[in-house]
Amino acid sequence: METHKDTEKGLIERAMIEKKYVHGYSAREKERLHDQANTLTGLLHSDTIYPPGSTVLEAGCGVGAQTVILAQNSPGAHFVSVDISKESLEKAEALVRREGISNVEFHKADIYRLDFGEESFDHIFVCFVLEHSVRPLDALMALKKVLRPKGSITVIEGDHGSTYFCPESSTALKTIQCLIDIQAALGGNALIGRQIYPMLKASGFNSIKVSPRMVYVDSSRPDLVEGFTKNTFIAMVEGVRVKALDLGLIDQATWEKGIKDLYRTTEQDGTFCYNFFKGVATK
Ligand SMILES: C[S@@+](CC[C@H](N)C(=O)[O-])C[C@H]1O[C@@H](n2cnc3c(N)ncnc32)[C@H](O)[C@@H]1O
Repeated sequence: METHKDTEKGLIERAMIEKKYVHGYSAREKERLHDQANTLTGLLHSDTIYPPGSTVLEAGCGVGAQTVILAQNSPGAHFVSVDISKESLEKAEALVRREGISNVEFHKADIYRLDFGEESFDHIFVCFVLEHSVRPLDALMALKKVLRPKGSITVIEGDHGSTYFCPESSTALKTIQCLIDIQAALGGNALIGRQIYPMLKASGFNSIKVSPRMVYVDSSRPDLVEGFTKNTFIAMVEGVRVKALDLGLIDQATWEKGIKDLYRTTEQDGTFCYNFFKGVATK
């Protein structure tokens, strides 16, 4: 499906969309998405298994970091994974082929303008996408349209307001606030995890269950220190450095100290906590 044709208008539109996406599409961001997905596989995916024969729409699949996990956990299900970014889709497709996965097809599509028939999916999976949506309720309504009655939707989001750590540092919190503010200025919401329940309710979904999924990291878990605190969370904050300084949200010395303090939490006596939220509901 080609919702943005490669006309000049389409290319300009796409450039605008990509500018609005706070994390961008760099090689480091691609790596960060994979670190995030691989580190959090058990925490976020252990209870998502789709029955053989079912058709699942993965909305906003990005570079395929969650796609491979989904497809491998439910080998009998068929996945239709869509994203608005052609480049990300190409990377996702290459990854899935490299892994020898054959139950996924990819389409370029905009969640707000899906070109699938009504009620054509048994299940929908959306992860780390609504936080970037300017109109998350409209996105949920658009997804609901293509979901069959009694079909399920799974929504996973983080919430940067749930971050706390040892040693405490108000300067580190200021760097996180820069990310929250920039994402908000782009129309997104980095505090959206706490809103999954009200959003699913407002979109008319039923049997809504939201569960917080806490990541707790200390130096006895070097895999989480690397994969989550450093390569997922701090990398995400560091990703807005240039924008934060350019916009004058923070001065350089405060920024450097805040990032140093975030890394300080990854040392022997440091700890780091963060909450993801997973919502499952039916139509
Ligand atoms: C943070 S990434 C998450 C990717 C993937 N779900 C994951 O967890 O690794 C957000 C993705 O949503 C996509 N996206 C944002 N708005 C979209 C829209 N309106 N339609 C389709 N994809 C969208 C972006 O292009 C990006 O690839």
